[in-house]
Amino acid sequence: MHFETKAIHAGQEPDSATGAVIVPIYQTSTYAQESPGRHKGYEYTRSQNPTRKALEACAASLENGKYGLAFASGMAAINNVMNLLSAGDHVVSTDDVYGGTYRIFERVFRQYGISYTFVDSTKTENIRNAITAKTKVIWIETPTNPLLKLVDIREAARLAKKAGALCVVDNTFATPFFQKPLDLGADVIVHSTTKYLGGHSDVVGGLAALNDEAVYQKLKFYQNAVGGTPGPFDCFLVMRGLKTLGVRMERHFKNALKVAGFLEGHPAVEKVVFPWLESHPQHELAKSQMSGMSGMISFEIKGGIEAARRFLEKVRIFTLAESLGGVESLIEHPAIMTHASLPKEVREKNGITDGLIRLSVGLEHPVDLIEDLEQAFASAAGN
Ligand SMILES: Cc1ncc(COP(=O)(O)O)c(C=O)c1O
Repeated sequence: MHFETKAIHAGQEPDSATGAVIVPIYQTSTYAQESPGRHKGYEYTRSQNPTRKALEACAASLENGKYGLAFASGMAAINNVMNLLSAGDHVVSTDDVYGGTYRIFERVFRQYGISYTFVDSTKTENIRNAITAKTKVIWIETPTNPLLKLVDIREAARLAKKAGALCVVDNTFATPFFQKPLDLGADVIVHSTTKYLGGHSDVVGGLAALNDEAVYQKLKFYQNAVGGTPGPFDCFLVMRGLKTLGVRMERHFKNALKVAGFLEGHPAVEKVVFPWLESHPQHELAKSQMSGMSGMISFEIKGGIEAARRFLEKVRIFTLAESLGGVESLIEHPAIMTHASLPKEVREKNGITDGLIRLSVGLEHPVDLIEDLEQAFASAAGN
């Protein structure tokens, strides 16, 4: 089946009890047993829930994975993968990762004896040089948040295989509609489903998808043992979002191309970062491992933090808020907002400057979005 068909049907047979076309929200914590230990496969909702099961099956199929696991947040999904590691293990990670990913690595798992080397993984040799005999995971985010740098997934997966490590890809920014890391050799995908997969800024969730049964069994054990599972209603919301993922992503991409083109020609803009612009240094890699791009654009405004602040106070349709991937356009300042958990020197080393602004281009009409940015530039300059 094609992507759009799987998004609507995978894991979602009509309900066996009632024929309900939409998977019901099984809002129950527990399940009746006929006799001790004799039940219908469901004992307790942290361990199994039919709404979650349907979401897991659907999301896994969109990633071309055999197994899916849903979580209460993207961070819970990342935590779950890190639970695979033991004291002494080592991780090579992309340096430009989401701030919360950096924080859980450095401030949670490091204290348990897991070590991390952060590298600019746009250059595959940096990953290769950081691998040691103890490396168990190569962690990549591509495109990265917020600098939209790309990592060659095929190459990273090849290096991981050679080192006997897992290649884990945070696919939140691209979505499986545009990028399928498992097909390119990666071992595990994680998502913040809070973003494009949910798509409507009304739910926080996470996901892991993979093909290897042994790794899946371990992750499933930790999912239940640690307990970061999503509620049934949240699973329903993510699943409803998945149904329209394809059409939404096509439009996010179309709108973002128009907005990126506008920004590129604007005199108040120092530089625009969008992988589908020819000016992006990894445009060729983008075309080789992605079939399009989501609505994420970063740009640097001339005039640093003061210019950025004035501009961000003037936008009207773009909402100044953290997060991304919803139908509404959002705008934010990574250094002060989403990436404040990175130490200033790390931010600066990675290129998250004080003039950097990140856009999540939504599904409004692109003319209105461009007019909004235009008026914000004009009134920020007039201040
Ligand atoms: C790329 C990426 N990964 C993971 C996360 C964490 O997800 P959540 O906020 O759902 O816990 C985020 C959140 O912004 C993100 O942008």
